[in-house]
Amino acid sequence: MVEFKKRENGFEYIEIVNESATAKIALQGGHIFYYAQHDKEPLLWLSDESEFKLGKAIRGGIPVCWPWFGMSEDDSLPQHGFARTSMWEFISSKEKNSKTTQITLKLTHSKESLSLWNYHFELLLHVSISDSLEVELKTINLDKKEFKLTQALHSYFNISHIKNVHIKGLHVKPYFDALTKKQCLQDGDIYFTKETDRVYQEVDKPIILVDKTRDITIKNEGSDSAVIWNPWIDKCKRMSGMSDDAYLGFVCIETANAFNDFIILKPQEFHLLKMILLS
Ligand code: BG6
Repeated sequence: MVEFKKRENGFEYIEIVNESATAKIALQGGHIFYYAQHDKEPLLWLSDESEFKLGKAIRGGIPVCWPWFGMSEDDSLPQHGFARTSMWEFISSKEKNSKTTQITLKLTHSKESLSLWNYHFELLLHVSISDSLEVELKTINLDKKEFKLTQALHSYFNISHIKNVHIKGLHVKPYFDALTKKQCLQDGDIYFTKETDRVYQEVDKPIILVDKTRDITIKNEGSDSAVIWNPWIDKCKRMSGMSDDAYLGFVCIETANAFNDFIILKPQEFHLLKMILLS
């Protein structure tokens, strides 16, 4: 079942319920803010303080950071691009079988987007909801000039407690530490004991988030980089849209094309970024 719904303040989203799972996708941002298999805890963290307000990204779920990740070269432009705060168009829904629903949303250039980023484009978000969550972001260059793209599916994962989790799959991978601005090499699994903000490079196999009672596997395609982020105590207090102790309940593992893993698209070329979440 696919239903178009509105929150009390008029904020629009699509609710998908099939035999495997329930998901909710906001039209603003093409933002998946809820996904849970029927017999399991929600996979995605969603802040209790999320405002669901037009022009402001939802805090949690999977913000689409596009067409740049982090700050643009022009620091007057919004962090993580404009896709997460733009209104997307619903294109289609298909109930492939009783257990799998496919949704497609689209974002194209507009007067507003051209004032921030002067390129014609089409961006398609394909989401498949079943006992896994599959998200594919297709960028098509409709302009006469090439453009550079950095991006991320900025997944916030719901965890039992930050002390209970670690991340496997990035041993011996190089990473850029955004806090020290240094290039480092990962030794072993990743545990969280302080603010962590890193872009891992040369990512070529699934990343596994190990929690007390479940593992979440993140498979990436069209991406060689992954961002690992937890704000920890001080930054969490400064962050908008989350409570002071929110950092205890989530870890971000972001399927990305970031840092030196940028994409150049010539006119008419396209790029596919795909993430499959299994738990
Ligand atoms: C992460 C960045 O991807 O997003 C962090 O690495 C940043 O540095 C975080 O703080 C949240 O960003 P925002 O714009 O959603 O507050």
